[in-house]
Amino acid sequence: MNKPDTPPTKTIVLERVCKVYRSGASQVRALDDFSCTIEAGEFTCLAGPSGSGKSTLLHLIGGLDVPTSGTVRVAGRATTHLDRTARALFRREVVGFVFQTFNLIPVLTVAENVEYPLLLAGLSAGERRRRIAKVLADVGLADLADRPATALSSGQQQRVAIARAIAPRPPVILADEPTANLDSTTGQAIIDLFVAINRQQSTTFLFSSHDPRIIARANRVLWLEDGRLRPSQA
Ligand SMILES: Nc1ncnc2c1ncn2[C@@H]1O[C@H](COP(=O)(O)OP(=O)(O)O)[C@@H](O)[C@H]1O
Ligand SMILES: [Mg+2]
Repeated sequence: MNKPDTPPTKTIVLERVCKVYRSGASQVRALDDFSCTIEAGEFTCLAGPSGSGKSTLLHLIGGLDVPTSGTVRVAGRATTHLDRTARALFRREVVGFVFQTFNLIPVLTVAENVEYPLLLAGLSAGERRRRIAKVLADVGLADLADRPATALSSGQQQRVAIARAIAPRPPVILADEPTANLDSTTGQAIIDLFVAINRQQSTTFLFSSHDPRIIARANRVLWLEDGRLRPSQA
């Protein structure tokens, strides 16, 4: 793992990032010379129409993919030159992901889904038990720990996904349209939960949405258009 090389307050730093997807003769420039800085503890929404590059940006910040050019630094670590193994370790230690489709493991219980990243992190059985109890209480699901994850409602499944993301205590939570599959009341409750975790634990949140009611909840909005920040923001 490379050593921190940016001040720790600047949690996410992107410098002149381009991402080009090529398939055969055609190519799409999903991010075009994109730069931004997000400070520790910020609660930021990535807004913009479908196809503007929101998911691509979250994947690059989360180390799921690498840029075509430019630099991505998260918690002081540049992800650009990490090999696959180092990137997997980076993902495990630095970011928690919440997806639009929850992505829970269907055969596992609620508690087992939350335990999974803690097993990967090598925590002892006792510490895993304590963490699971704490985060399930935090998301309001303490009573459902032993239920099969997919027996829950959509809103409850997204709460499990959030518990799983925060359990290893990563400094950054990335969420790609986390409310898109939820009704508006349930979606607002999920953002309420993000706000509470952001305040209590100073976790940095970056989530994407194109729903005005969700975007309005952010402290800062980065508006994307064709892989760039809208001209008024750049
Ligand atoms: N794996 C891929 N291969 C080719 N093109 C892609 C791929 N992923 C995204 N794109 C293209 O990149 C652009 C940005 O996509 P995306 O980041 O998914 O935007 P958003 O999340 O804002 O909808 C779009 O034109 C999309 O079609
Ligand atoms: Mg997307």
